[in-house]
Amino acid sequence: MHPVEKIHTSVLLHECMQYLAPVSGKTYVDGTLGLGGHTEKILQLSAPEGRVVAFDWDEEAIVKATERLQPFSHRLQIQRRNFAEISAGLDSAGLEQIDGMMIDVGLSSLQLDMGNRGFSFQRDEILDMRMDSRGDMTAGSIVQTATEEQLADIFFYYGEERQARPIAAAIVAKRKIEKIETTKQLVGVIVRAVPKRFHPKRIHVATKVFQALRIAVNTELENLGTILDDGVKYLKPGARFCVISFHSLEDRIVKRKFRNNESLNVLTSRPILATKEEIAANPRSRSARLRVAEKK
Ligand SMILES: C[S@@+](CC[C@H](N)C(=O)[O-])C[C@H]1O[C@@H](n2cnc3c(N)ncnc32)[C@H](O)[C@@H]1O
Repeated sequence: MHPVEKIHTSVLLHECMQYLAPVSGKTYVDGTLGLGGHTEKILQLSAPEGRVVAFDWDEEAIVKATERLQPFSHRLQIQRRNFAEISAGLDSAGLEQIDGMMIDVGLSSLQLDMGNRGFSFQRDEILDMRMDSRGDMTAGSIVQTATEEQLADIFFYYGEERQARPIAAAIVAKRKIEKIETTKQLVGVIVRAVPKRFHPKRIHVATKVFQALRIAVNTELENLGTILDDGVKYLKPGARFCVISFHSLEDRIVKRKFRNNESLNVLTSRPILATKEEIAANPRSRSARLRVAEKK
């Protein structure tokens, strides 16, 4: 078994902490606990009396992070919930205001590489893609039941996939013959639906469809929009909100929400990216972008 900190390497950890600047006696929210890397750092930097309230909706992540963060348990409260429910979360923690907040959206390596949960097109798994196993909708249920038009919209808007229509048509044709239940079946349909000359050179031809289904299953963009609006209300003046995102759809939402919120000063005119050294050590950080805003 891998030690928890080896399963997932936290991205932009140093940059995020520079902005959040945790200190003792203050209370921070980590909306995406994951394997607990960022939370652990906040707790270390805010010793001896800093506190963290952390959310994650993935039960497996919570179990692993709880174990890792055992030494800090007296200063940490972990809640299994969608970060979009921040109001209820802070209410149950008895908090009216906080001194800083961060979210690191996207998948943990636990989900992507070890979960057998259908996030990766590189292995043959059931098409699930739920980060929260309590949810009703799976990638399989969307692929089986959405109309051709709905599928094309999902692929186009959430995946920015130019071949959305032919892929949606191929899925609907295939599912008339057999149920599409696995990642391998779906990859096969996509590979055949997209003419060879349109196969992208730098990424797998299925990448964008998988991204789109994941976003749809987990209502990721809606959740992001909600935390960006609601989270800001709980920040004390001077408190900072750090957001790490992984693709342009998310980054655009963060940029717009920060810029349009009159109670915020945006501290990053451009997103902060991982250094060459970080990318070499952790290729997943290649697409990470950090934006930070401060409550006026
Ligand atoms: C990239 S990982 C976080 C890694 C963490 N910062 C670390 O250093 O270990 C993202 C985590 O956010 C969680 N997550 C994503 N969207 C969420 C949401 N709407 N509510 C709660 N947790 C969410 C995922 O389940 C996943 O565990």
